[in-house]
Amino acid sequence: MPVRPFSKRLLSASQPPLQIRGGSIIGVIQNVNRKVCELPKKVRTCEISIDPTAQKEHNTARMKTPVTVTVTGAAGNIAYSLLFRIAAGNMLGEDQPIVLKLLEITPCLDKLHGVVMELDDCAFPLVQEIVATDDPAVAFKDANWCMLVGSVPRKAGMERKDLLSINGKVFIGQGKAIAENAAPDCKVFVVGNPCNTNCLIALHNATGLPKQNFFAMTMLDELRAKSQLAAKAGVPVSAVTNMTIWGNHSSTQYPDFTNAKINGKPVTEVISDTDWLKGEFIKTVQQRGAAIIQARGASSAASAANAALMTVKNLVTPTAQGDWFSVASYSDGTRYGLPEGIICSQPTRTNADGSHTIVEGLPIDDFSRGKIDASCKELLEERAEVLG
Ligand code: NAD
Ligand code: LMR
Repeated sequence: MPVRPFSKRLLSASQPPLQIRGGSIIGVIQNVNRKVCELPKKVRTCEISIDPTAQKEHNTARMKTPVTVTVTGAAGNIAYSLLFRIAAGNMLGEDQPIVLKLLEITPCLDKLHGVVMELDDCAFPLVQEIVATDDPAVAFKDANWCMLVGSVPRKAGMERKDLLSINGKVFIGQGKAIAENAAPDCKVFVVGNPCNTNCLIALHNATGLPKQNFFAMTMLDELRAKSQLAAKAGVPVSAVTNMTIWGNHSSTQYPDFTNAKINGKPVTEVISDTDWLKGEFIKTVQQRGAAIIQARGASSAASAANAALMTVKNLVTPTAQGDWFSVASYSDGTRYGLPEGIICSQPTRTNADGSHTIVEGLPIDDFSRGKIDASCKELLEERAEVLG
């Protein structure tokens, strides 16, 4: 599908992508481009040779095949934190060249243009190409990671599921565009709320893509829970491990203190205040998003971007021995009594080969059972609303 006129303007305004033909290297880092080749505007491909000094300077970055990362809602608040950290290599590694593809709705293309100018002005060595567009087919072309942030945030007094009627439809078209244009093994990661069910919508519309490649974000809840437990126990947050968020990224989510650890010991051995664990702790985590909206007048953005970055980093990095992380993924109905066919947050590990495994065999006591079931019930209700 052709790039729309405005997108062309954006493309020509940013550094044109280059290809080195006759070799295996595709794409050139921006500041190398500038040294060796002056391109006429709107020429997006040329043959160049790299001067040896530039080659040495950027040797590490050129050793890996570029990864294409598509971010939707790229002119929004979360993206304004997220993009610069992706571009700096904080997500996929400081030796991983990336192509950034940025999707926005047409009225926000001017604002997106400003973001692209700022990205350009950072001269990130890893960024080989930036494509900014309002066309999903262009944005998802060859994407390896589809980070679906673009959608409306809730206002004070709303639940996230109240956004389903506004945001849900976005994920129909984007799911289809991903299936038609992205890399066949692409990973789809949904941040836009209600993220679990939006992810399910995308999955149902992305015909042919493996279900296990779809994820929704509960890392922000995991990090919030870790932070609360660390503060209560008076330990650094790094001491808190094995933190599962079960269920929905909503006010029914269950931050599972019964299987979490502090300095390798069960949380319940370190924090004896069970009333706090069962009451204030859970409520604080469940209501943290609302508390931030109340205080800031806008939903979490920098912390959400950080959590998005951490999720992808966790999904591409082998998980530390004995630990796990939280992400919502497709439930096949075979574990922990979670219903089949929902996108449910579960304890997850990334294996050495890059595959993902749900941690099996964690004890679920009656208290946890009730909380997990309540969140799954909400996910089933949301599913019924969108899939009938
Ligand atoms: P924002 O309003 O600042 O930005 C959203 C951007 O998405 C806007 O620029 C908008 O133009 C764009 N957009 C809307 N529809 C689009 C479409 N169809 N295609 C491409 N872009 C589109 O909002 P934000 O603060 O960046 O938050 C984005 C979403 O993330 C919200 O739904 C919010 O509730 C959610 N969120 C989720 C979590 C989580 O933990 N899962 C955390 C924080 C925020
Ligand atoms: C959050 O948890 O901060 C986000 O999901 C935004 C919200 O609506 O609470």
